Amino acid sequence: MTHLMIGWERETPVPNHVFNDFLSARNGRLYFEDLDLAQLLAGGGPDQGLGKQLPSPLEIVYLPKIRGKIEYMTQIFARAIAEVGYAGRFHYAYASKANTAEEVVRTALGSGANYEMSSSVDVAIARLMRSGGYLPPGRLTIANGFKGPGTTYMEDLIALKSVHEPVVPVVEDLTELAPLIESGLSFDVGLRQKSYGQHRTELEMDQANSRFGMKLADLWQAAETIAAAPNLRLRLYHAMIGSQLTDRAAFVAGLRPTIEIYARLRQRYPDLSIFDFGGGMPVPMTLDFHFDYEAFARLLLTTFQEVCAAYQVPVPEVMGELGRYTTAEHGAHLFKVITVKDNGSALPWYIIDGSIMTSFPDSWALGEHFIVLPLNHLDQPFRRVQLGGITCDSDDIYPPKSSASPLYLPVETEDLYIGFFCIGAYQEMLGGVRGTKHCVLPEATELVIDRDEGGQYQFLLLPGQTTDDVLKNLGYRPVWRDT
Ligand SMILES: Cc1ncc(COP(=O)(O)O)c(C=O)c1O
Repeated sequence: MTHLMIGWERETPVPNHVFNDFLSARNGRLYFEDLDLAQLLAGGGPDQGLGKQLPSPLEIVYLPKIRGKIEYMTQIFARAIAEVGYAGRFHYAYASKANTAEEVVRTALGSGANYEMSSSVDVAIARLMRSGGYLPPGRLTIANGFKGPGTTYMEDLIALKSVHEPVVPVVEDLTELAPLIESGLSFDVGLRQKSYGQHRTELEMDQANSRFGMKLADLWQAAETIAAAPNLRLRLYHAMIGSQLTDRAAFVAGLRPTIEIYARLRQRYPDLSIFDFGGGMPVPMTLDFHFDYEAFARLLLTTFQEVCAAYQVPVPEVMGELGRYTTAEHGAHLFKVITVKDNGSALPWYIIDGSIMTSFPDSWALGEHFIVLPLNHLDQPFRRVQLGGITCDSDDIYPPKSSASPLYLPVETEDLYIGFFCIGAYQEMLGGVRGTKHCVLPEATELVIDRDEGGQYQFLLLPGQTTDDVLKNLGYRPVWRDT
């Protein structure tokens, strides 16, 4: 296949079909696990516990998916550890930058994840999670990001230590060590290697054009400074090479030079015990995705075994800071097709009641693909179309301009609803939450969905923005409404 598969690619109806492990067509309607999505907006089926229809557009936040993902990856590594006889454990950390919404962070931590953060607001969130009982006392909080002397982030991290002991600052730059030493508090610290990109050698890594992490000479100097400081202990080594890395052999090969550096550091600094590969774990954002997570975990662990044996050091505990993997699939955004415009363009335009470019900035900015499927009329013939958002921006379209992926939707457009899927990571954070967006479109209503222990759905409805909300954001005082 020469293109990514973003939906149904035929003109024939697809009344019953399994698209992936959570999306299926049943009798012409699309289900997210057991939830009839069209029913939420258009009715037409048995009530699912909400007791009413919701307005379109609608954001879906499906929390059980987050739990499922964390559980699955934890099991994958547990199995791989047993299979290859690995003498170390796996730490799952949630990279909160992927989606920092309260219910998302709470759910990830509630599923046993450690917390990876990158700013001073994240520290405030860690405090709230701690006081709310979601961040248990022993859970690691890994602090990445820039936190030089005098920054609020560094000050907040030092203060967090008195509330939550296992704070692990990951040093990005030599200047970050002084405030930690001067704090007088005992810190386990990490070191971040400059490693972003696919590099085969240490020299390539050192010469890479990346603002993250330290070059090798600085890394060794930082390790020396930590060893000499009475209150610091080198515990973690962090090397991240990219995001959405779908080639498992290349993923591990890209980490290999960093594993060698870890082993050399470990020879000299015996407290070092965690190798943190950061993010990169890929996730199915289209329907043709295949990645063998078990084979990846085995290859990673056996590579650690091989390299560490060569350097005669114990294998590390392994940490992943998984952002996209944890949250991409729990988010969906539903729209109504409000009009069909056939104006002689290459394909008919299906215009939706919201904005594609502000809801999913990566589709516009990076040409990234997401799954798009109709929520109803799946039992009707399809045709090839293009989607247009309701803003006046020529980039507010889908598939992205650079895409070769065809999009098929039902010919029947009476009350047609569609969904964008796998948009839960980064898109909302990049587009902004509760802000004012392009062409002053109000933010959609949000439905937070969970399941109780008996499997019953539980719903929390967060109303969208009103016109007044948007006007107030922009400094208007809607006086005409006072009279
Ligand atoms: C330091 C760090 N860790 C983890 C992540 C999460 O990466 P991913 O979304 O690929 O899991 C990022 C993403 O930018 C990052 O910068």
